[in-house]
Amino acid sequence: MGAGSILNRSYEQKTTMLRLVSRSAEQTQRLGEYLGKLARAGDVFLLVGELGSGKTCLAQGIARGLGVQQYVSSPSFVLIREHQGRLPFYHVDFYRLDRIEEIADLGLDDYIYGSGVCAIEWADKGMALLPEVHLLVTMEHVSEDERRIAMEPRGERYVSLVSALGAALEKEGWRG
Ligand SMILES: Nc1ncnc2c1ncn2[C@@H]1O[C@H](COP(=O)(O)OP(=O)(O)O)[C@@H](O)[C@H]1O
Ligand SMILES: [Mg+2]
Repeated sequence: MGAGSILNRSYEQKTTMLRLVSRSAEQTQRLGEYLGKLARAGDVFLLVGELGSGKTCLAQGIARGLGVQQYVSSPSFVLIREHQGRLPFYHVDFYRLDRIEEIADLGLDDYIYGSGVCAIEWADKGMALLPEVHLLVTMEHVSEDERRIAMEPRGERYVSLVSALGAALEKEGWRG
């Protein structure tokens, strides 16, 4: 890979990354809902951010956007929850994992490379085991109700996803 392609890539990331501000939990869920509506089989969304930054909130919105009727919340020791919507939705949470080996033991590949949509909270705990091609969502706590959210596409599929998301938000007149 030459220097040219590296430059190209950073240029591409600058122009396609979407930076948003959410001012309520409902707004974050609505953002997730858009993602769920735009999602395709095989999509992988990696959610990164401190406790309380809104990762679960966003994942619930994704479930809704995928048409999951009932969002049953399972006991907290369950690391992977499967929901049925227009596509299967796998909601994974690495919060309770301490060692990367435990992630390897989960048999995640069946979900990640399956025919559903996968959202992984605390993905930064296991980045080395996750696909390089993904949508990276970084969430930051700003104040009680305000969150900074960055959507960073890693791979062509997610460049088009983020651009479709940006267009949908613009159409709605999203303020943030
Ligand atoms: N703009 C916002 N986006 C998301 N959550 C928010 C927002 N404002 C307040 N909250 C609250 O912050 C908390 C986020 O919790 P959660 O989604 O479980 O975070 P995480 O999964 O990142 O630990 C919820 O109690 C939610 O009501
Ligand atoms: Mg959570």
